[in-house]
Amino acid sequence: MGIKIIGTGSYLPEKVITNKDLESYLDTSDEWIRERTGIGNRHVAEEGKDTVASLGAEASRRAMEMAGITADDIDLILVASCSSQEHLPCVACQIQEILGAKKVAAFDINAACSGFMIALSVANAYIETGAFKRALVVGSEVLSELVDWNDRGTCILFGDGAGAAVVEKGDGNFHYSLGADGTGGKVLYCNTNEKIQMIGQDVYMFATKVVPIVIRETLDKAQLTTDDIDLYILHQANSRIIKTISRNLKVDIEKFPMNMEKVGNISSASIPVLLDEINRQGMLVSGKKYLFAGFGAGLTYGACIVDWA
Ligand code: UT7
Repeated sequence: MGIKIIGTGSYLPEKVITNKDLESYLDTSDEWIRERTGIGNRHVAEEGKDTVASLGAEASRRAMEMAGITADDIDLILVASCSSQEHLPCVACQIQEILGAKKVAAFDINAACSGFMIALSVANAYIETGAFKRALVVGSEVLSELVDWNDRGTCILFGDGAGAAVVEKGDGNFHYSLGADGTGGKVLYCNTNEKIQMIGQDVYMFATKVVPIVIRETLDKAQLTTDDIDLYILHQANSRIIKTISRNLKVDIEKFPMNMEKVGNISSASIPVLLDEINRQGMLVSGKKYLFAGFGAGLTYGACIVDWA
């Protein structure tokens, strides 16, 4: 037995920064960014208006609306984020307050870009044991506040936004495989009161090496082959990383939906925002299997397979 996703939602701040905007003041170009990353635009939070909690709450409302439930029907809120404006209280409690959820446990998970997928596996573990019935799993980020907008090695990549999923017990299976390598901690790093620092090529090499391995591991656990997966919903860091992974797995690139052109890399919100986009386009079909895979700061990585109800 595993979880099923009964509703998805997402929310992006209105303000958009295009590659052309960056080109106007940085030593970079729209052509370079598109060719090297696949990114064209990124949404960014407006100061005093959008927070990690407010974006996450709006995505959650939309997911609950799709699921046909209210906050009273939720008993667990898990928020994956690495960019909360406050150390305390956690984002999950802030979202609880905004939604007016009463009888819930609520806490955050910080595993950067792998966060949403890891939060799903936590929800699965709790729901499987019967500890909780229905969880709201959220990925929300305001990375624009952690980015040095004069560092062309990082500011071209990141964006803000939130995605959410409502999950409950399902008849299908949920298989996953997770990992971490703290020795790579300094490869993608952000000290308190400082801006994100990254050795891009090291992250690139890490992702293209480890993600195919963890995907195969997860398929083995589920006793499935790459052909059994209908879509591969990967962290949207860089289209070249995804193309390399698809070649390594010998899976058609058509099976890897991408939206980084419109939204950039939104860390833990990346997978749920893409999931909601393709769900609302009617691309997800009952009975099919979907694989999620993420990698990021920590370093963390992992994959999971969801049976779509
Ligand atoms: O969620 C995980 C978050 N992190 C990532 O996913 C990062 C993964 N890494 C990457 O996506 C890529 O490494 C980057 C997009 C960050 C960089 O692309 P790259 O192909 O690895 O470029 P590079 O660092 O090897 O730099 C190639 C050249 C250098 O110039 P020279 O030395 O060849 O003259 C850079 O100085 O490109 C230059 N460069 C740029 N030029 C224009 C680096 N950044 C830029 C830029 N615009 N923004």
